[in-house]
Amino acid sequence: MIFSTLSKASLALLAASILLVLLAPQEAEAHSWASCIDWRFKSTKNPSWSDKNGECAGYARRFPLGKSFAGLDSDDPNRHYQQSHKNPSPENSLACSNGKQGEEPGADETMGKPVTSAYNGRDKRGRKTGQMTITKAGGQLCIRWPAKNHAVKDEKNRPVTIALSGVNPTKDPTQKEFLKNIVANLNYKNCTDKGSNTDIWPCGGCFKLPANLKTGYYVMQWRWLLNSNEFYTSCADINVKA
Ligand SMILES: *[C@@H]1O[C@H](CO)[C@@H](O)[C@H](O)[C@H]1NC(C)=O
Repeated sequence: MIFSTLSKASLALLAASILLVLLAPQEAEAHSWASCIDWRFKSTKNPSWSDKNGECAGYARRFPLGKSFAGLDSDDPNRHYQQSHKNPSPENSLACSNGKQGEEPGADETMGKPVTSAYNGRDKRGRKTGQMTITKAGGQLCIRWPAKNHAVKDEKNRPVTIALSGVNPTKDPTQKEFLKNIVANLNYKNCTDKGSNTDIWPCGGCFKLPANLKTGYYVMQWRWLLNSNEFYTSCADINVKA
């Protein structure tokens, strides 16, 4: 009697563990985007990319405010735009998402008309959007992104590149044009606040803009390589003032 009760219990346990394995969330193949273009650290002694240790003073185009830091890949539309890698090649693929093209179309990050209309307004779903980055020639910018599980040890550390357009462009540069003017290479795995959830580690990089920039608007592209031909981009305008 005891024996059969025990084996029933162990059977139930076995079934439960099989179910658990089947239902466990798969390691999410999640992708990243620039969550802030002008991150300001609260403390310069102990700089950190987490919400509680800084604030964002400039965003990518039509960036919805008030959403959780690492959650915009499951937003509608999602914030990670993966460029086409079949035909055309990555060098020719659309630089800033138009919401339609790409391996994974993202949110609409094309240039606003006027440029400022992609900021301090509302997105298509009526949500408030962030402000544009205001900076100066030679100024430092710190850009933030969520790790999305890709900053852990066994992931290859692939670069983030920052590229700039010419001054006051009337349309977005092509990817080829951006590739001719890369102004910084950032370390994807430069993360802080590394808790047990590797998806939401906050990461980022700081760099100085070229000192010879004329005042005006520029398009800046954040571009990250995941796997051999998967490029993700975010686009922002920056206002370079005297
Ligand atoms: C790495 O992150 C820290 C903040 O923790 C920042 O101060 C530093 O500039 C970053 N390093 C690079 C090379 O971007």
